[in-house]
Amino acid sequence: MRKIKLNIIPGDGIGIEVIEAGKRILKNIENVHGGISFDFQEYGWGCEYYLKNHEMMPSDGLNILEDCDCLFLGAVGFPGVPDHISLRGLLLPIRQGFDQYINLRPIKMLEGLKSPLKIKSNSDIDFVVIRENSEGEYCGKGFIKNEGSAEEVAVQEAWFSRKGTYRVIKYAFDYARKNNKKSVVSATKSNALNYSMVLWDKIFKEVKTEFKNTPIETQSILVDALSGFFILKPQMFDVIVASNLFGDILTDLGSAMLGSIGISPSANINPEKKYPSMFEPVHGSAPDIAGKGIANPIATIWCIILMLEHLGLNEMGALLMNAMSEVIKKGIVTPDLNGRFTTNEVVKEICDRLN
Ligand code: NAI
Ligand code: MG
Repeated sequence: MRKIKLNIIPGDGIGIEVIEAGKRILKNIENVHGGISFDFQEYGWGCEYYLKNHEMMPSDGLNILEDCDCLFLGAVGFPGVPDHISLRGLLLPIRQGFDQYINLRPIKMLEGLKSPLKIKSNSDIDFVVIRENSEGEYCGKGFIKNEGSAEEVAVQEAWFSRKGTYRVIKYAFDYARKNNKKSVVSATKSNALNYSMVLWDKIFKEVKTEFKNTPIETQSILVDALSGFFILKPQMFDVIVASNLFGDILTDLGSAMLGSIGISPSANINPEKKYPSMFEPVHGSAPDIAGKGIANPIATIWCIILMLEHLGLNEMGALLMNAMSEVIKKGIVTPDLNGRFTTNEVVKEICDRLN
């Protein structure tokens, strides 16, 4: 029996609900597979914990979390705690502390999903965003000058190191090669960001040269135009490599192109496997629907598929993908996708098909 240890942080709002859904799926997978068991260790860190303890997680939180095969996270953030505190106190320290420098975010139109866009076929929307996840605009450095005065200035730094930029772009090309993807598009903004994105472009060109003997096509597109192409010509994209901020924004847009923000998963990967990788839906804690039992569990269940692939359990991942796709195809979906089903009902239907 292969034991897989998962450290789980449900977090806040619908994070708690979608993780509960995810745990039911994982328990079901144990039964179906027969040769694996998941050992859940859950940590109740998040905004409620903050209100009691004045910190989002204990100061030795990373040491506690490190001992596992994978991390599984719902979402953090809730009214009552400023968003920059919740994000900077939990999620970003994990991503950065565990050097999860790749954030892999597939955007794929499964059968049965209805895009708000006019597309000819579902295969028109099928791409992966590889988002830099350790530095860039989210490095957290900066300062405020003349606070509270009329001359107040906030300076938010964006750190783009050669090493950090190179490794994410290289990963995107390797990913394209391994998965027979036609093209890699770089999301840039070097017209306005005359330091960071100029370096980004320079390194993109260098990596492109390294891959000149492969059939991978490349384009560097200014991110504002690129977001327009998401809407007008989504079929042009296979692999997109983007900075931390651009990748964040583009993937909410990407998920919305599938009909809801509650669909797309993400994998925060430390490719060297020195630290555990973390799987979490792209969406946030959705306080507007929290507690109603109607959160779409698909993004979280899709995270489990990515997690299974990461653990080398590809066949099991494919089975779960089939079960999930069938349920979507049948229209058994939550209200965000204009369905009438609850989170629990969707999960039950997926479990039934897995069995
Ligand atoms: P959000 O993604 O939580 O919600 C945006 C909209 O999408 C809302 O109308 C919500 O109801 C809907 N939505 C999101 N996920 C859904 C799902 N699974 N099923 C059905 N509908 C869903 O983004 P928002 O409102 O900007 O942020 C809310 C809180 O979440 C904030 O505190 C924010 O800081 C935090 N957040 C946390 C993230 C994380 O932990 N990774 C990521 C994004 C936001
Ligand atoms: Mg986001």
